[in-house]
This record gives sequence, C-alpha cells and structure tokens, in this order.
Amino acid sequence: MRLGKGLWVPRPSEGRMSLKGRDLIAIRDLSSDEILDLLARAREMIPCAEGTRVREPLNGRIVAMGFFEPSTRTRLSFESAVLRLGGRCITIADAMASSMRKGESLSDTVRMLTGYADAIVLRHPNEGAAQLAARVSDKPVINAGDGAGQHPTQTLLDLATIHERFGTLTGLRVVLLGDLRYGRTVHSLAYALAQFGAEIVLTSPPELRLPEELRSELERSGAKVQMEGDIRKAVREADVLYVTRIQKERFGDEGEYRKVAGSYRVDLPLLEGAKERLTILHPLPRAGEIAPEIDRTPYAAYFRQAFLGVPVRMALLDAILGGGPAAA
Ligand code: NCD
Repeated sequence: MRLGKGLWVPRPSEGRMSLKGRDLIAIRDLSSDEILDLLARAREMIPCAEGTRVREPLNGRIVAMGFFEPSTRTRLSFESAVLRLGGRCITIADAMASSMRKGESLSDTVRMLTGYADAIVLRHPNEGAAQLAARVSDKPVINAGDGAGQHPTQTLLDLATIHERFGTLTGLRVVLLGDLRYGRTVHSLAYALAQFGAEIVLTSPPELRLPEELRSELERSGAKVQMEGDIRKAVREADVLYVTRIQKERFGDEGEYRKVAGSYRVDLPLLEGAKERLTILHPLPRAGEIAPEIDRTPYAAYFRQAFLGVPVRMALLDAILGGGPAAA
C-alpha cells in the first residue's frame, strides 16, 4: 500500500475509510474491509450513475486519463464516473496522438499529467507501468490495466456484480475460463477471490494456464485453487463462470495465437445441466467466446457488469479524491 506519498498525510478520521490520496496499483493494495466498503459505496452510487440523483463531490477536480492501449468500457466508464461526480477529465485516448509518438518516456508524460490533474488513471501495454507512474507522481495513480499485469478496478466491478447476484463473495465456486496466462483481469480477480474464500477453478487451454508463480502464491496463501480440464464439468459445478478473451495482442507470434484461437466457446448446449443460479461474467470485449444466444438467458450478467463499472469507479474516485484537496 502506498501511503503518505509526497506531501500527503493520511487522515484516517476522514470518512468511513481512508483511501484519500492513495494509489490503486494492484488489488492487493486493498484490504477485504476496504473492498466491501467500496462495494457498499458503489451500491449507493447507482442512482447517481443512472442520472436520477446528483452528487458532485469532485466539483472543481480534474482527472487525467492516460490510455496508451485500446479501451472502450474502462476509459468511458471512468470518464462517465468523473463527470457524474461533477469533476472534469483530460484525456489521452490514443498513444499515437500523444508525445509518446515523438519518443517521450512514460515517466515524462506522467510528470506532465501530474501537473495538469488531481489524479491519474493509466492504461499501458507494459506490466509495471502504473507502479512506475506512482513512483514519479505525487498525485494518486489508478491502474486501469498494465499489460498482462493487473486490472484492479475491473476486479472491483467483477466483485460488485457477483455480490449483487449472490449477496456474498464467500463460499462461491468460480470458474475462470480462457486466457489465464495473459488476461490481467483474471490475475487481479484470482487474488481477490482467494481473499474472500471462494473456490477457484482454472479452465484453460494448456498454453494459456495461469502463470505458475501466481498459482503457487495463491496456494501458499491458503486459497482453494483447482485445475479442471473438462469444461463441461467445470460449468456444471460453477456458481460463477468468468469467461475471458484470448489476449491476441500479447502473443509474440501469430502462429502461437492461431493454435489456441477458437478453442473454447460458451453456447447453450454447454450450459445444459448448469446450476440455476449460474452467473456468467466477461470483462468484455468478447471475440466469439460467448455465443450471442446466451445474452437472452438469465445466466448472462456481463452487460450489467459493464454498467456497474460506472458506480464502482465513482465510489473509488470519491474515496480517493472526494471532499476537496487531500493535503492538510
Ligand atoms: C479487459 C482488459 O482490457 O484487460 N477489458 C476491460 O477492461 N473491460 C479485457 C480484455 O481486453 O480482454
């Protein structure tokens, strides 16, 4: 946890918890209580995210969006969250339209954003980019995805969706299906699920297994982790089926990608015998892993999940930035 950076001094008496002025680089930066508190705040934010209530704790604040990799949901839901909270955004939506194209380093770019905004939301193709940004900036940095590393705010909205459907995060059997090697959303989510005592089932093509290091870290922490090669069996026993896209852009070699492309697909026949309360999540975008026919079933929760990105990010931004300047 990166507390007390720069001039900021934590003041635990402010609000229900003190995320004020803090970075969010990896999901492990948050304790279980902090996660549950954020989810509760996110539930309260839903009417504001829907536009039926107005609350503007970010009035007068500027948030910089540095997106150096493609994004639809993450960037737009962050922007929507800032605007709904009464703040304003400055945005780099395309690395090629920024001075990175002229060879500017990430740390120089981050230094500029630090001078122009009160917080920085960063998406970058390099693992560790958000951590580097947090080192050079004395403003809060939120990791919106660093290469194949972490995607902690996605995890918060994944957990919010699970919590909304089940009323709990504990004791669920969660199948992570797909590209567990390069998928940063599952890397973050697996840690959080372990923290809440879920049973984690890993189902992927052999080439796309969860990195060994991460798996043994989860096991060492006492998490219930199991590999299941039989996708039908995995689906039949699941409470939550978390499907991911093969991260084509992270393959060094097109041939390697072609070997695994199209190797799994969730369709109606696969769901025969599934639990009634099965909930299917996907961080989106999907690229053929979930057949469109699933959208009409009560299992599909991925569009709700994408919407919940707004209230969850509102809750986070409010906790980090809300209520005026953080400095004492
Ligand atoms: C994910 C990402 O960027 O890691 N998308 C998202 O943020 N909703 C998943 C993906 O791109 O497959």
